[in-house]
Amino acid sequence: MKLFVSEAVHDKEIVDTVFEASSGAIEAMRRDGPEQVVNGAFGTYFDETGKLLTFDSVYRAFDQVEDIQKAKYASSIMGSEEYRRAVKDWLFEAVGFSPTCDIIATPGGTGALSSTIKNSLMPGQKVIYPDIGWGPYVTIAKEHRVAIESYQLFSEAGGFNLDSFQETCERVMKEQGKVLAFINDPCQNPTGYTMTESEWDQVQSIVEKLSQSGPFILLHDIAYIDYNRKGDDYKRMFKRYETLPENVLVVIAFSVSKTLTAYGMRVGAQVLFSTNENQREKFMHACANTARGVWSTVNNGGMRVFADLALDSTLKKSYLAEKSDFVTLLNERAAIFVSEAEAVGLPLYPYNEGFFVTIRVDRQVIKNELHLKLKTLNIFFVNVYGGLRVAICSIPKKKLYGLPGRVKAALDEILAARNDHSPST
Ligand SMILES: Cc1ncc(COP(=O)(O)O)c(C=O)c1O
Repeated sequence: MKLFVSEAVHDKEIVDTVFEASSGAIEAMRRDGPEQVVNGAFGTYFDETGKLLTFDSVYRAFDQVEDIQKAKYASSIMGSEEYRRAVKDWLFEAVGFSPTCDIIATPGGTGALSSTIKNSLMPGQKVIYPDIGWGPYVTIAKEHRVAIESYQLFSEAGGFNLDSFQETCERVMKEQGKVLAFINDPCQNPTGYTMTESEWDQVQSIVEKLSQSGPFILLHDIAYIDYNRKGDDYKRMFKRYETLPENVLVVIAFSVSKTLTAYGMRVGAQVLFSTNENQREKFMHACANTARGVWSTVNNGGMRVFADLALDSTLKKSYLAEKSDFVTLLNERAAIFVSEAEAVGLPLYPYNEGFFVTIRVDRQVIKNELHLKLKTLNIFFVNVYGGLRVAICSIPKKKLYGLPGRVKAALDEILAARNDHSPST
């Protein structure tokens, strides 16, 4: 029988672990009241009163954007000129350099990730992801009928697994003569890991060396960049992208959703770096075509408010001051969770900063059981590869105190019921 959906997409049922866990938390809050629920599922920032954080500096500036600007199409498929100038200023000029790059506005960071896969790989080819990563990466690959090859994010010693990254890239380069690899840094989702400068140096040398065998496209997902502890200093690392060999294209995926706590505005960008201007331009045209053919233009009011904040020093100053308080709050929340986890012996993946911490549970059956058991205790986390993601961005401090102990007790009960005394979880 002929189907309504095409044969190519008939098996595309969507199971989004984040939305699934979040709806469980919402249901429990309705049933038992918000005070009785630990909602560590949402990947959006909630303040200490449990309200979705909205920066005053952003939303009062948004009020000032004229109705006409909010109503109209953007002036270009690539994004408005002032928005692209603002992204360049935000990411590079703020730390003192003005690189040659192309900037294309996208609907959130997601649009940037999706367009990059679509325009660099053919269906059936492979994209390289970290094994522990943001769930929708998988959905995006599926959307473009691209297969996934994973590198192990962490080495045994607990740092970025350079050997696994290198082996995986080499294998895929050998197979398909081309590599597209994703790195999410800083504040990796879901672990909160941030790579060291030396790890980046080594990634760069792997990329440079391998690009002698074929095109190497590095997708640098910086969704949480504005929540790292070093602040703008992190952005200095982008300087390394100015002088890469001709066979390397770097695509930075930027998300205004997180930076401005404006998830619903759907604004982001692809920033393209390559010393091969001709190839870079071709890639830019392909991405512009995707924009026109998939979403048309990006939210004009959203682009305008970002440009206003980035390019007006008074507005930017008030945003930075406000945001800084919430970076501090995240760090305080993390300190509670991480130190208590350590005290009770609850294993975590290496955490440095950002919205999420991940509890390490190596065995999938135990992890799934723990996830379900915690739900019965009104504790909602997201089930990810190798563990459970705790969104400290959405849990107030008062609910973080004692939480690692409750999780550890639930885990111990599961292990005891299985008569399992193995040291590893
Ligand atoms: C790692 C990562 N990349 C990209 C995104 C894209 O976000 P958006 O499309 O809302 O900008 C997210 C959102 O949660 C994310 O966690």
